[in-house]
This record gives sequence, structure tokens and C-alpha cells, in this order.
Amino acid sequence: MPKIIFDFVDGAAGSEGGKQLNQTAIESIRLQPRVLVNIDESELGKNILGYDMGLPFGIAPMGMCNLTWPNADLMLADEAKHRRIPLCLSTASSTSMEDIFQRSGDMSWFQLYLNQSVEHSMQMVDRAQKAGYEVLILTVDVPKVARRIRDAKNGFEYPFKIGPKQFIDFATHPNWSIQTLLNGTPRFANFGTSKSPKDFSRKAGRSGADWSFLKQLRECWKGKLIIKGVLSAEDAIEIKNAGADAIYVSNHGARQLDSAPAAIDALPRIRHAVGKDFALIFDSGIRSGEGIVKALALGADFVMLGRPMLYAIGARGEAGLSTLFTNLSEEISLTLAQTGLRRVEDVDVNVLFQPPPELL
Ligand code: FNR
Repeated sequence: MPKIIFDFVDGAAGSEGGKQLNQTAIESIRLQPRVLVNIDESELGKNILGYDMGLPFGIAPMGMCNLTWPNADLMLADEAKHRRIPLCLSTASSTSMEDIFQRSGDMSWFQLYLNQSVEHSMQMVDRAQKAGYEVLILTVDVPKVARRIRDAKNGFEYPFKIGPKQFIDFATHPNWSIQTLLNGTPRFANFGTSKSPKDFSRKAGRSGADWSFLKQLRECWKGKLIIKGVLSAEDAIEIKNAGADAIYVSNHGARQLDSAPAAIDALPRIRHAVGKDFALIFDSGIRSGEGIVKALALGADFVMLGRPMLYAIGARGEAGLSTLFTNLSEEISLTLAQTGLRRVEDVDVNVLFQPPPELL
């Protein structure tokens, strides 16, 4: 894919040190091997919020996925349905929430940004409810959109401004450019189809998503409500008290605050704060089956992956995505076997070589 698109997917906030930290912090965690356990087949299913999922991981919400390859959103939806795992569909998706729900049914979860006004967001919520969505994710870690230096250097803007630099980038990636032109340039599909004439604005602050909005949302959304982008134990307790069904621990893949802690380091504290029975979802920096097992051991009930999904589609389309799921599933099975477990549901703190004090 063109550099401008790859950098949009791969990039992060500021110096991008936070992005590196997410991964090195996960890599530095050691697992405790166990021996002499007879493990023939592993069970990878995991229950989250009452849904029996086929795997312990799903697809994090990402805006404008079709920029990586035409119909990327539909590829993700098909994979979600086939594997029985959740696809979190972004407010800023390039396929409408109705079309995705038709494709992946109850495996589609809708992610909400309060992008313009409370009224506009409530219209979106209403649409999601009417389309059949049962799970809503409110993302709260984008009070302002971070400076992403690669995007600024590349002149990444929507709608695209095509100057000489961008022209050369597109022209030297003819396969992507032709396919994208033939399929129509991706757009913010939930906005064109909304009653409101306003388009999604990438640069607009989303700070309206405050405590009073959470209260309002909880009153009107009858389904499961997940709050995404939480790193503080104090916030987690308040969110739990506000009636959320789950907290999604994430630093947005380090795309917001370069100096945020590695998301994995915040996870045990939050698990300790909310207690053992409250649902926690985790993302940011997961790149392998071992990483997924580590997040589960540190207190997550379910794990999401962002960029790897788009790397896989960018590399080989549907086949690439399917290979990613197969590889991650095999890696989880191998990790379970090495740690003496047969079932993902049995992963707990004992899998860790050095459990964090909060979990003891
Ligand atoms: C994102 N992310 C994101 N999150 C969200 O709540 N709504 C969104 O629209 C987007 N858009 C988005 C676009 C792209 C291209 C990326 C890479 C990420 C953040 C995403 O949900 C997730 O938190 C991170 O991607 C997780 O980190 P990893 O797995 O990419 O390291």
C-alpha cells in the first residue's frame, strides 16, 4: 500500500516511543513452563459478556479500514462471523453499520465517538440499536486528536489532497491505486448515511464524552456498554459504578499519548481495582498468541488486536487475514501446552513466572 496509508495505520503519537513500549513491555513478561501434563487438544473458546466466542481475541475498532484495501471492513466482518469473534466497528468506519451488521450479525459491536454533538451521537446510538447491535463501546481517550508526525509529514488528510508527493506515492503503488479507484475512494460511511448532514471530522475533539454523557448513554442504551481507553484504576472504579458492563483497557495503540504507560502495565492495577468478576477487555501492542495469553493472565477476560489485522489485509487480503487468525490460534494452543493448560478459560495468574503484586 502507499506509504501515506501504511504510515496512517502503523503510526502513533509523538516520538512513537509509546508504541515501542507497548510491545517491549509485553515481550518482557515471562511465562512459567509446566511439564508432564498430557495435552492432546486445546480449547480456545472464551466467554465474554455472555457470548461464547470461538477464540479469546477479536478485532479492535479502526476507522477507514478500506484505505488498506477495498472491502477490508467486509473481510473483517466475514472473518468475525466465521470464527465467532467480535468485530468492533468504528464510528469512522468505511462501511455502514447496517451493512456490517447484515454481514456479521451479533458478532458486530458498535464503537461510538462523540465526534460532533451529543444529539448527533445519540442519533448514531439509535441507529445502532435499530440495526440490531447489542454491544456498544464508547471510546473516551480522544479528548483531542493527538499529533501523529508521520501523518503530518505525509500530508495525510481527508478528503485527500493530492500534491506531487502524494501523486508519486500513489503512482508507485499501481495495484492499490487501481483497485481503490475501481471500488470508489473510501468514505466515512456512517456519516453519509446519517440524517445529519455533517461529516466525520478527524481533527475535531471528542471531549464531549464526559461523565454526564456516560450517564446519559447508560440510561438510553439497553444493551451491553463497554468503555474503551481506560488506564487509571480510579477512573475504572467510577466507570464500573456508573453502570458500564465492561472496561476496555487500552492506550489506543499509543496513538494518543506518547508518554502513557504501556497498556499492559495498567491492566493488573485495574483488575485489582474492579475486582475479579468485572469484565475487562485489553488491547495495545499484542502481536502473538503468547501476548494474548499474557494479557489474559494479567487480568483481561478478552483481548483485541488492531494494526495486525490491517497489516495482514494489506499484505494478502482475505488470505492474509485468515493466515493471521490461524497463526495466532496455533500460537495460543502452543502456549497453553507449554504452560500445562488445555483450556483458555483456565489461564490465570499462575501462568506468569512473576505475577504482579496486585494480583496476589
Ligand atoms: C485505531 N483505533 C481506534 N480506536 C477507536 O476506538 N476508534 C477508532 O476509530 C480507531 N481507529 C483506529 C484506526 C487505526 C488505523 C488504528 C491502528 C487504530 C485504536 C484501536 O482500536 C486499538 O486501540 C489499537 O489499534 C490497539 O493497538 P494495536 O493492537 O494496534 O497495537
